[in-house]
Amino acid sequence: MDRELIIVLDFGGQYNQLIARRVRECNVYAEVHPYTLSLEKIKEMNPKGIIFTGGPDVVYAEESPRYSKEIYEAGIPILGICYGSQLMAYTLGGKVESAPVSEYGRTEVEIDDSDSLIFKGIDKKTICWMSHTVYIAEAPEGFKVTAHTPVCPVAAMECPERKLYATQFHPEVMHTQQGKEMIKNFVYNVCGCSGDWKMDSFVETTIQSLREKIGNGKVLCALSGGVDSSVAAVLLSKAVGKQLTCVFVDHGLLRKNEGDEVEAVFGPEGPYDLNFIRVDAAERFYSKLAGVTEPEQKRKIIGEEFIRVFEEEAQKIGAVDYLVQGTIYPDVIESGLGKSATIKSHHNVGGLPDYVDFKEIVEPLRLLFKDEVRKAGLELGIPEYLVFRQPFPGPGLGIRIIGEVTAEKVKIVQDADFIYREEIAKAGLDKGLGQYFAALTNMRSVGVMGDERTYDYAVALRAVNTSDFMTAEASELPLEVLFKVTNRIINEVPGVNRVMYDLTSKPPGTIEFE
Ligand code: XMP
Repeated sequence: MDRELIIVLDFGGQYNQLIARRVRECNVYAEVHPYTLSLEKIKEMNPKGIIFTGGPDVVYAEESPRYSKEIYEAGIPILGICYGSQLMAYTLGGKVESAPVSEYGRTEVEIDDSDSLIFKGIDKKTICWMSHTVYIAEAPEGFKVTAHTPVCPVAAMECPERKLYATQFHPEVMHTQQGKEMIKNFVYNVCGCSGDWKMDSFVETTIQSLREKIGNGKVLCALSGGVDSSVAAVLLSKAVGKQLTCVFVDHGLLRKNEGDEVEAVFGPEGPYDLNFIRVDAAERFYSKLAGVTEPEQKRKIIGEEFIRVFEEEAQKIGAVDYLVQGTIYPDVIESGLGKSATIKSHHNVGGLPDYVDFKEIVEPLRLLFKDEVRKAGLELGIPEYLVFRQPFPGPGLGIRIIGEVTAEKVKIVQDADFIYREEIAKAGLDKGLGQYFAALTNMRSVGVMGDERTYDYAVALRAVNTSDFMTAEASELPLEVLFKVTNRIINEVPGVNRVMYDLTSKPPGTIEFE
């Protein structure tokens, strides 16, 4: 095939598919491959360029992933990002050291060489996303430093004669304000691509391939009412019609009134014909979660119990081969598949029990990001208010209650979250935010109410701006809204005497609390 190809060589970074996607957005085809791909194979694939991803390792540690020095002599342009940049520096004789101060999040980077091909058209001072504890202290011989920050002497370096480029920051994430241009510059100016590739209609090809795969088989879809599983359900319904049954498990960890809202849309009274079954399983989940405080264990229990409920429903229907889940790419990568570190086991991926009584689990959205899923949803004719609903995680309020989950705590967080969402909507802020919710901390503190001492829980409010959910920044909510929500929660929700607002970005935080 003679289409232009960029190989993304994966060293275990959280953003490896995001890099490939950014390249594809430039109309150049990109594929992610493990760093163990041989140089021989790479040469056979004849790429126009290679991008080294970031990764969780420290390059000078013995067990760290490396690549043979010969790759730099192959005449193929290379862009190293974060770990990839350190690997390039280390392999070619530069100095990589533990940074005196770690850099996380938005960082102002100063471009030192505006003639650099990858910084064409980029502002002299530009906001980039950093996430590192180790840095390049000295670039290898023959390289020039093209950008720095107050704490990072080599924020970017290059050896244009050998077409080798490196950035300590992550140009692929949204929060690097001119990152898209930098990737475009690399792909077009350095690799010489012409951009003649276009993404096929995902919806059409997926419906076709689902039809071929499933044939006459019966399919059960795990429907939560969130965007991902709704898009997966409608895709399946278009592909196999009546062979599909959708099961909605109310695990007692849903937001206030959510069970009824989901049923109203996807149940028999709604516009879809999905063979909808609602299972009320709150007691069952609460008893499994009793006494459990460790976040990963909670996730695994909820993930397992979900599957057991689906298996039981499948038995009732009989001869169901496939279980469909709306897993999307960030769920896969953050569950630590491949070389990436496990951040948390998303219940529809890493949270699965070892044994699952279905012939196969089908995940048609596995390679898409949230905003791509939304595009597919609109293409499928799903109403906008559903497509743009804020995400709600499979384990639900179970991971928004820090520590042990009890029915009483669920009620507290449901009521606090309801007030928060109501006030956000009243202020007209709901459409602009990536995700916002209340969580129940495991902390109780002393307060005074009506001349009485109280010793009650603290609720944490979170709101983030993000489009890919891989990185996020705390939203600057108006203080008057925060005061209003705080007063209402404390006055209206028994058991709460303190409300806090979380300002942490991701990384180093995550969006959810567990
Ligand atoms: P974190 O907390 O990992 O969340 O920054 C990123 C996005 O993923 C959602 N999330 C999940 N979604 N199953 C899901 O379907 C899960 O187990 C899960 N855990 C987190 C989270 O709400 C956010 O949108």
